[in-house]
Amino acid sequence: MARSLQETHMAGLPQPQVELIPGCPRHVAIIMDGNGRWATQRGRPRLYGHHAGARRVREIVESCPEFGVDYLTIFAFSTENWKRTQVEVAGLMNLFRRYIIKETRALVESGVRVRFIGDRLRLDKKLTAMMSDLEVATQQNSRVNLTIAINYGGRDEVARATRRLAQDVAEGKLSPDAVDEETLPRYLDTHVLPDPDLVIRTSGEARISNFLLWQSAYSEYEFIDTLWPDFTREEFQLLCESFGCRDRRYGGVKA
Ligand code: IPE
Ligand code: IPE
Ligand code: MG
Repeated sequence: MARSLQETHMAGLPQPQVELIPGCPRHVAIIMDGNGRWATQRGRPRLYGHHAGARRVREIVESCPEFGVDYLTIFAFSTENWKRTQVEVAGLMNLFRRYIIKETRALVESGVRVRFIGDRLRLDKKLTAMMSDLEVATQQNSRVNLTIAINYGGRDEVARATRRLAQDVAEGKLSPDAVDEETLPRYLDTHVLPDPDLVIRTSGEARISNFLLWQSAYSEYEFIDTLWPDFTREEFQLLCESFGCRDRRYGGVKA
């Protein structure tokens, strides 16, 4: 029976001895979709589904070091999600604040390093201050790297990166001839992260909705019908196990 991260720490026990999944993806990115439909199926408001979805995150984060996943990146709010009603957007922003307050201690104590990606300028100052504080509070941690994408869009990220790159060119810090596939990603929000090996999308939609466009050029994809609030550690484990059987060729041929 899996213990929660906090229980593990509180009990002062050593990390559980587990067998890592052979061929486990090092970096998994998840498009956590289906919260609204999950709530609607229960006759409840969409925010009820978002709260249920947020409660799923801990179990999935906790599974990562046990399976062998070093990096988990989760899509929490896209640059397109501002199109939703004011009630839903405000409820989600409130949920992010509540998540940080509720989870900080467990994240700090259980060795999770948290980072945020996305454009922070449009976010509430109180929320961005809490995000920065959580990044600082967990920056010494290295057991697992959790990246949370809030106000994130792949196109917006590439546009922002290009703007900063152009600025460096204009200031003479970078030669136009030096701009290549190695240089550009250094300007992306994800510059310290490896590319995702596996991208999972819940809820049955087979699209990427502007997530990690540059980084997922050679990622493997899993589109599953489960709605995010129903996604479990067991299903996550199956997906990580089946990843190990994939033949990644990167455009080449098998030796
Ligand atoms: C994903 O769930 C969470 C966010 C986009 C914030 P949705 O809210 O998109 O749920 P569905 O797709 O409407 O069911
Ligand atoms: C993608 O889900 C964004 C997040 C999970 C945060 P959406 O529900 O916003 O995507 P679309 O609108 O179905 O493409
Ligand atoms: Mg959706």
